[in-house]
Amino acid sequence: MAKESFLYKGTHFSVNVHSEASLNYAENEFVAFDDDIFNVTYPKSGTNWMIEILSLIKSKGDPSLNNSVPIFDRAPWFEIVDVKEKVESLSRPRIISSHLPHHIFAKSFFKSKAKIIYTMRNPKDVLVSNFHFAKVLSIFEEPKGFQEHMENFVSGNALYGSWFDHINGWLQMKDDSRFFYITYEELLLDLRGCVKRICKFLGQELDDEAIDSVVKNSSFKVMKENKMSNWTTVPSEIFDHAKGSFLRKGVSGDWKNQFTVAQNEYFDAVYQEKIKDLNVKLFWEE
Ligand code: A3P
Repeated sequence: MAKESFLYKGTHFSVNVHSEASLNYAENEFVAFDDDIFNVTYPKSGTNWMIEILSLIKSKGDPSLNNSVPIFDRAPWFEIVDVKEKVESLSRPRIISSHLPHHIFAKSFFKSKAKIIYTMRNPKDVLVSNFHFAKVLSIFEEPKGFQEHMENFVSGNALYGSWFDHINGWLQMKDDSRFFYITYEELLLDLRGCVKRICKFLGQELDDEAIDSVVKNSSFKVMKENKMSNWTTVPSEIFDHAKGSFLRKGVSGDWKNQFTVAQNEYFDAVYQEKIKDLNVKLFWEE
């Protein structure tokens, strides 16, 4: 959980990153263009990976911008403080990131033809990734232990609220032609195939060479070495680089190294109950 948090419409936000005004801007004042592309996720689900992919698709595989412009400036989160000018000066089509839940997303999006790419990840890996992230990012309280961290995650006592509410909320749009959902696990398994599907959704035609470049330059290895994408530009007071890397492991199933058998059984039971009305088979369940 964030060190200092506040509630906005029932969801937890951090005073260091958000304000009533910044959330109000994203929800009510922001004006969506029809060609906007929103990169929406619950935190730790592959947000930065999708930024990398989308910026490379936008540049038709040319990595120069990815290598020279920080990831936060290529696709800023539109709900955080002091970002309005940055969002409004983006070149079009704008790529805009967000972790907002469906019920507080930009009202103007719903009246536009803009598109959303919603990336999800096995919540067990989200939880583990988030546990490590909370140890290195100063806006978080240092987690006391994994059990407590899991309980907070399950009860929605977490930054951006409950993972389950996020998924249940956003997947209400699953049949909308402006909404494309994909999982982190699919990206890991077949990045090229996923890039092609994303291009199709966006109506972008890329030749094979451009697709190859998107795949290569958004790989874990290349991103980890790219200073514009690996968060090493974030000051040490905010991100403790001595303690960990933003691009930490980049795998699926790391939860198996962290969960006890009892924690896994507990989590499975909660999971079944909380997503029982979803009617979508999520990739990691197969
Ligand atoms: P891990 O902590 O499990 O390694 P977000 O961008 O939503 O904060 O998600 C961060 C997670 O995505 C981290 O997971 C990070 O390593 C992983 N990630 C980022 N880029 C990746 C890539 N190119 N390939 C695989 N995983 C990536």
